[in-house]
Amino acid sequence: MKTLKVALLGCGNVGAQVARILLEDASVLADRAGAKLELTGIAVRNVATQRDGQIPAELFTTDSAALVDDADIVIELLGGLEPAGELIGRALSRGASVITGNKALLAARGAELSALAFANDAQLRYEAAVAGAIPILRPISDSLSGDRITKVMGIVNGTTNFILDAMDTTGAQFDDVLAEAQALGYAEADPTADVEGHDAAAKAAILASLAFHTDFALENVYCEGISKITAGDVAAAKDAGMVIKLLAIAERGENGIGVRVHPTLLPRTHPLAAVHGAFNAVFVEAENAGELMFYGRGAGGSPTASAVLGDTVAVARRVVSGGPLPAIATQQSVQVMDFAQAAT
Ligand code: HSE
Repeated sequence: MKTLKVALLGCGNVGAQVARILLEDASVLADRAGAKLELTGIAVRNVATQRDGQIPAELFTTDSAALVDDADIVIELLGGLEPAGELIGRALSRGASVITGNKALLAARGAELSALAFANDAQLRYEAAVAGAIPILRPISDSLSGDRITKVMGIVNGTTNFILDAMDTTGAQFDDVLAEAQALGYAEADPTADVEGHDAAAKAAILASLAFHTDFALENVYCEGISKITAGDVAAAKDAGMVIKLLAIAERGENGIGVRVHPTLLPRTHPLAAVHGAFNAVFVEAENAGELMFYGRGAGGSPTASAVLGDTVAVARRVVSGGPLPAIATQQSVQVMDFAQAAT
């Protein structure tokens, strides 16, 4: 079986879980991918930082460029525009494929990096960049590519949903709940990106670009966060039978494409009112498919790592076979439960 070298850039909440799964589930992933996925190294800023002891210390390096130059697949989980952008460009330019969860970079340079991947016969996948574990990008860009999407709307930031939900259920103050969301690993390194709506705006720009087959610029997303929402606002909404949610809405209408992020009052009977904690939910409307709804964990290490690994397997399948492998694996035998026997 072929071996593909996988370089991991970053070992934060998500990166550490990606490394764990690559090491623990190596044989399952190899079966699914049709190739061994060998984690060759993890680029970090400081190798001496205390980390999860399950990851062999010799994997850590500060030489991200050397790691990228030796890889078949690069998983970028550094976040931020640089050095992530330069390293992704470096990988794609030499034909290595890239998986990233970097919504800020994709919102700013997604079209350019996609073109670079295409020009070098490499793949660029980023399911983890929007709505954590929820498979939403492949459905809108692949499954619905024969349809015409008219609207994408939802909760795409786990931190702000966690904060608003806790304020609603416990009457807590904004600052106390933000600290909890940070401790749980939901918030960005700089939580301003979450609370001011910038993270959701970047995700909305990515969703709009894929849904409407265009390069929708981040600067054209109207953005208003939740930092001015007080415990009093949340209580008043509650008294009126409403709940406040930070929504991202991308629509195509007669006057063009409009994309916006802002706190929204919803009746408590609305399906999005039932999205609690760091969960996300996205509604999609398409001319022929009608309404679709996607729901799941929108933030956190393991859920986001699931999306990264899904992309990694998909990339590996194409590297190995030039296309997807059959969806039904043949390498593993299964034990079948005998219900008749269990009932006696
Ligand atoms: N800070 C982000 C959120 C992480 O809270 O949704 C997932 O993109």
